[in-house]
Amino acid sequence: MQPEPWWRDAVFYEVYIRSFADSDGDGVGDLDGIRRKLPYLADLGIDAIWVTPFYPSPMHDHGYDVADYCNVDPQFGSLADLDALVGDAHAAGLRVVIDVVPNHTSSDHPWFREALADPTSAKRDWYIFRPGREGQPPNNWQSVFGGSAWQRDPASGEFYLHLFDASQPDLNWRNPDVHEAFHRVLRFWLDRGVDGFRIDVAHALYKDVALRDDPSGAERSPYAWDQDETLEVWEDWRRLVDGYDDRMLVGEVFLYDPERVAQYVGADRLHQAFNFSVARTPFDADAFRDIVQRSLRLFRRPGTTPTWVLSNHDLVRHATRFGGGEIGVRRARAASALLLALPGSPYLYQGEELGLEQSIVPPELRQDPVFFQSGRDGRDGCRTPLPWTDEPQGHGFTVGDAWLPFDKDAADRNVDTESRDERSTLSFYRRCLRLRRDVVLLEDDELTWLDAPDQMLAWRRGALAVVTNFADTAEALALDGDVLLSSADAPAMDSGHVTVPAATTVWLSVSG
Ligand code: NOJ
Repeated sequence: MQPEPWWRDAVFYEVYIRSFADSDGDGVGDLDGIRRKLPYLADLGIDAIWVTPFYPSPMHDHGYDVADYCNVDPQFGSLADLDALVGDAHAAGLRVVIDVVPNHTSSDHPWFREALADPTSAKRDWYIFRPGREGQPPNNWQSVFGGSAWQRDPASGEFYLHLFDASQPDLNWRNPDVHEAFHRVLRFWLDRGVDGFRIDVAHALYKDVALRDDPSGAERSPYAWDQDETLEVWEDWRRLVDGYDDRMLVGEVFLYDPERVAQYVGADRLHQAFNFSVARTPFDADAFRDIVQRSLRLFRRPGTTPTWVLSNHDLVRHATRFGGGEIGVRRARAASALLLALPGSPYLYQGEELGLEQSIVPPELRQDPVFFQSGRDGRDGCRTPLPWTDEPQGHGFTVGDAWLPFDKDAADRNVDTESRDERSTLSFYRRCLRLRRDVVLLEDDELTWLDAPDQMLAWRRGALAVVTNFADTAEALALDGDVLLSSADAPAMDSGHVTVPAATTVWLSVSG
């Protein structure tokens, strides 16, 4: 029998590099900062880190605008720092997954510069240039960041497509040379020993061949996203990655239809895809039961596993989504404890282990192009730097001036302070992740749902029972066992009943 692949039930931790740990005092996190914090990550009990882009970039989209796919931006360190990080992570028993951004490059990338400078050059067809319609863009597609998805090139009068910022021109995946170029990029990093790739906007790449207008005029044209041909790219990448030992691909498939997301994964496509429907699920028993059941049905099959995503660097932190303040954090812990007991891979986002909420960033300190271009609040509030200590100047993140302000609660919610408090969210995550390894993963991964009152969910996985009370009052359930973990106060066990406090998940060891 084949041994189970390492990523099957691995807990991934997203390191948003700019905001994790700054080793050189410029106020921006870097590779060496991550390396120095590996003991923290290993002790937390995760299995792998996903590091957001560290490539040379003008940083208009904070690194998702790549100007060189095979190097490191000096702001983040050097290739030697990357090698040292991978080496030390492996020595600490952690895998390293890095971001790859194939849908678009930076407008500073030499490929795009050549395409602009010489419309007759081969590089012109690496991008999507089209004449306008009576001076207007070639079609009505909208950019995710706001406004038309087309930018006029004044020199030629043609427009180029950018589904994100105008500084992020979309590549033309109908050109075979683009495929070849990314083969080289993947091999460059695989040869250096990275364990896999998180693929940015893995549901983009191919566009409708005729670039048809979207009749609905919606923000996301069905002709600009999720084209079947894109799946062939993932089949091709899977073959390439399978030529190496033990590597994996996880796709950022930002679709809210899990049935469709399921098309992207499997034994000959991506190993995993982010399940963003989980991050859209309200704190409600029926809603959670529905998404858990659907996800298990769709993703627990040979060649892939479910993923559980509550937060990341693009989303409002889940403690805030669930109501904010004390109740929001309490619900966030309950939801995490529920998901961490399921088969598959949880993807944690840095700071959720501290119970961080969405920060309020004043307009004059904003950085995110989404804030400036779309009229939406943008993503700065989930990207504020990780507080390591209660020291107001730099919070152990930097000795300089951090690129974004710290959260207002950083004096209480930081690694040092929480490490000293048994009841903190950090201590809870550590317990949870330890028990996941020592107890949960030893159980069979078949789930049996138990009868439970409204606003409670209860299920068993072998000898483990997991009960979540979604209500704002304590609720009781007929169940006997030994309490292994509670996301808040301990439940009361009395004559064959467990009384679970409000907004709490408990793990019990049960027999029979
Ligand atoms: C998804 C990334 O997570 C986001 O931060 C970025 O702005 C877009 N892709 C464009 O690359």
